[in-house]
Amino acid sequence: MAVALVGLPGAGKSAVGRRLGQRLQLPFIDTDNVVEQRIGCSIRDYFEREGEASFRDIEQQVIADLAQGADGVVATGGGSVLREANRAMLRGSFHVIYLRSSPEDLFRRLRHDVKRPLLQVADPLGRLRELQGARDPLYREIAHDIVETGRPSVAMLVNIIVMQL
Ligand code: S3P
Repeated sequence: MAVALVGLPGAGKSAVGRRLGQRLQLPFIDTDNVVEQRIGCSIRDYFEREGEASFRDIEQQVIADLAQGADGVVATGGGSVLREANRAMLRGSFHVIYLRSSPEDLFRRLRHDVKRPLLQVADPLGRLRELQGARDPLYREIAHDIVETGRPSVAMLVNIIVMQL
Protein backbone atom coordinates (compact mmCIF):
# COMPACT_ATOMS: atom_id res chain seq x y z
CA MET A 1 0.00 0.00 0.00
CA ALA A 2 1.21 3.52 -0.78
CA VAL A 3 -0.06 6.30 1.48
CA ALA A 4 0.70 10.03 1.12
CA LEU A 5 0.06 12.56 3.86
CA VAL A 6 -0.68 16.11 2.74
CA GLY A 7 -1.41 19.28 4.70
CA LEU A 8 0.08 22.52 5.89
CA PRO A 9 3.38 22.77 7.78
CA GLY A 10 2.83 21.73 11.39
CA ALA A 11 -0.14 19.48 10.61
CA GLY A 12 1.85 16.46 11.82
CA LYS A 13 2.66 14.81 8.49
CA SER A 14 6.12 13.65 9.58
CA ALA A 15 5.22 12.59 13.13
CA VAL A 16 2.06 10.77 12.05
CA GLY A 17 3.74 9.32 8.96
CA ARG A 18 6.61 7.82 10.94
CA ARG A 19 4.23 6.10 13.39
CA LEU A 20 1.86 5.03 10.62
CA GLY A 21 4.78 3.44 8.76
CA GLN A 22 5.74 1.48 11.88
CA ARG A 23 2.15 0.37 12.40
CA LEU A 24 1.70 -0.77 8.78
CA GLN A 25 5.26 -2.14 8.60
CA LEU A 26 5.98 0.06 5.61
CA PRO A 27 8.97 2.32 5.01
CA PHE A 28 8.47 5.98 5.90
CA ILE A 29 9.75 8.65 3.53
CA ASP A 30 9.67 12.41 4.09
CA THR A 31 9.98 14.27 0.76
CA ASP A 32 11.67 17.24 2.48
CA ASN A 33 14.44 14.89 3.68
CA VAL A 34 14.88 13.38 0.21
CA VAL A 35 15.08 16.88 -1.30
CA GLU A 36 17.70 17.87 1.30
CA GLN A 37 19.76 14.77 0.48
CA ARG A 38 19.67 15.69 -3.21
CA ILE A 39 20.53 19.38 -2.78
CA GLY A 40 23.12 18.75 -0.06
CA CYS A 41 21.96 21.59 2.19
CA SER A 42 18.92 22.71 4.16
CA ILE A 43 15.74 23.71 2.35
CA ARG A 44 15.95 27.08 4.05
CA ASP A 45 19.45 27.76 2.64
CA TYR A 46 18.41 26.48 -0.76
CA PHE A 47 15.37 28.79 -0.87
CA GLU A 48 17.63 31.74 -0.12
CA ARG A 49 20.24 30.82 -2.71
CA GLU A 50 18.19 29.38 -5.58
CA GLY A 51 14.62 30.53 -4.94
CA GLU A 52 11.34 28.72 -4.45
CA ALA A 53 10.78 27.67 -8.10
CA SER A 54 14.01 25.72 -8.18
CA PHE A 55 13.09 24.00 -4.91
CA ARG A 56 9.68 23.10 -6.39
CA ASP A 57 11.36 21.52 -9.45
CA ILE A 58 13.37 19.19 -7.23
CA GLU A 59 10.36 18.45 -5.06
CA GLN A 60 8.38 17.50 -8.18
CA GLN A 61 11.13 15.15 -9.32
CA VAL A 62 11.16 13.48 -5.90
CA ILE A 63 7.38 12.98 -6.00
CA ALA A 64 7.63 11.57 -9.53
CA ASP A 65 10.27 9.08 -8.38
CA LEU A 66 8.24 8.03 -5.34
CA ALA A 67 5.06 7.70 -7.43
CA GLN A 68 6.85 5.05 -9.52
CA GLY A 69 8.20 3.27 -6.51
CA ALA A 70 7.33 0.67 -3.95
CA ASP A 71 4.84 0.71 -1.09
CA GLY A 72 5.41 3.13 1.75
CA VAL A 73 4.12 6.04 3.77
CA VAL A 74 5.15 9.40 2.32
CA ALA A 75 5.01 12.74 4.14
CA THR A 76 4.90 15.47 1.49
CA GLY A 77 6.05 19.08 1.77
CA GLY A 78 3.13 21.39 2.51
CA GLY A 79 3.48 23.22 -0.81
CA SER A 80 3.73 20.16 -3.04
CA VAL A 81 0.04 20.44 -3.98
CA LEU A 82 0.63 23.83 -5.63
CA ARG A 83 1.68 22.12 -8.85
CA GLU A 84 -1.03 20.38 -10.79
CA ALA A 85 1.41 17.69 -11.92
CA ASN A 86 2.10 16.82 -8.28
CA ARG A 87 -1.59 16.69 -7.45
CA ALA A 88 -2.17 14.29 -10.34
CA MET A 89 0.74 12.04 -9.31
CA LEU A 90 -0.27 12.00 -5.65
CA ARG A 91 -3.95 11.31 -6.35
CA GLY A 92 -3.11 8.67 -8.96
CA SER A 93 -0.45 6.70 -7.12
CA PHE A 94 -1.26 7.04 -3.41
CA HIS A 95 -4.04 6.80 -0.91
CA VAL A 96 -3.99 10.50 0.02
CA ILE A 97 -4.79 11.62 3.56
CA TYR A 98 -5.22 15.32 4.28
CA LEU A 99 -4.17 16.15 7.84
CA ARG A 100 -6.18 19.29 8.53
CA SER A 101 -5.63 21.77 11.38
CA SER A 102 -6.69 25.32 12.12
CA PRO A 103 -4.07 28.03 11.48
CA GLU A 104 -4.13 28.72 15.24
CA ASP A 105 -3.18 25.10 16.08
CA LEU A 106 -0.48 25.13 13.42
CA PHE A 107 0.89 28.37 14.80
CA ARG A 108 0.98 26.94 18.32
CA ARG A 109 3.07 24.02 17.10
CA LEU A 110 5.36 26.06 14.85
CA ARG A 111 5.89 29.27 16.79
CA HIS A 112 9.53 28.43 17.56
CA ASP A 113 10.27 26.97 14.12
CA VAL A 114 13.23 28.36 12.20
CA LYS A 115 13.41 25.70 9.47
CA ARG A 116 10.54 26.73 7.26
CA PRO A 117 11.42 29.65 4.98
CA LEU A 118 7.80 30.56 4.27
CA LEU A 119 7.16 31.22 7.96
CA GLN A 120 10.18 33.46 8.59
CA VAL A 121 7.98 36.58 8.39
CA ALA A 122 6.74 39.23 10.83
CA ASP A 123 3.27 37.70 11.07
CA PRO A 124 3.52 33.89 10.78
CA LEU A 125 -0.07 33.35 11.96
CA GLY A 126 -1.32 35.66 9.21
CA ARG A 127 0.84 33.75 6.75
CA LEU A 128 -0.60 30.42 7.93
CA ARG A 129 -4.12 31.81 7.45
CA GLU A 130 -3.23 32.84 3.90
CA LEU A 131 -1.66 29.47 3.15
CA GLN A 132 -4.73 27.71 4.53
CA GLY A 133 -7.03 29.82 2.35
CA ALA A 134 -5.00 29.16 -0.77
CA ARG A 135 -4.22 25.49 -0.23
CA ASP A 136 -7.17 23.97 1.61
CA PRO A 137 -9.09 23.51 -1.70
CA LEU A 138 -6.03 21.85 -3.27
CA TYR A 139 -5.58 19.39 -0.40
CA ARG A 140 -9.31 18.59 -0.54
CA GLU A 141 -9.17 18.12 -4.31
CA ILE A 142 -6.80 15.15 -4.01
CA ALA A 143 -7.69 13.74 -0.59
CA HIS A 144 -9.24 10.31 -0.27
CA ASP A 145 -9.66 10.97 3.47
CA ILE A 146 -9.57 14.10 5.61
CA VAL A 147 -8.44 13.79 9.25
CA GLU A 148 -8.72 16.71 11.67
CA THR A 149 -5.51 16.91 13.70
CA GLY A 150 -6.43 19.57 16.25
CA ARG A 151 -6.85 17.58 19.46
CA PRO A 152 -5.95 13.90 19.10
CA SER A 153 -2.46 12.62 19.93
CA VAL A 154 -0.23 11.16 17.21
CA ALA A 155 -1.15 7.64 18.40
CA MET A 156 -4.86 8.42 18.16
CA LEU A 157 -4.45 9.93 14.71
CA VAL A 158 -2.70 6.77 13.55
CA ASN A 159 -5.63 4.68 14.88
CA ILE A 160 -8.13 6.92 13.08
CA ILE A 161 -6.20 6.61 9.81
CA VAL A 162 -5.76 2.85 10.04
CA MET A 163 -9.51 2.44 10.52
CA GLN A 164 -10.14 4.42 7.34
CA LEU A 165 -7.65 2.63 5.11
C1 S3P B 1 6.75 24.24 2.46
C2 S3P B 1 6.65 23.30 3.46
C3 S3P B 1 7.81 22.58 3.98
C4 S3P B 1 8.95 22.52 2.95
C5 S3P B 1 9.25 23.89 2.43
C6 S3P B 1 8.03 24.57 1.79
C7 S3P B 1 5.51 24.94 2.04
O1 S3P B 1 7.42 21.25 4.32
O2 S3P B 1 8.63 21.65 1.89
O3 S3P B 1 9.72 24.66 3.51
O4 S3P B 1 5.48 25.54 0.96
O5 S3P B 1 4.50 24.85 2.78
P1 S3P B 1 6.50 20.91 5.63
O6 S3P B 1 5.07 20.95 5.19
O7 S3P B 1 6.93 19.53 5.99
O8 S3P B 1 6.82 21.90 6.66
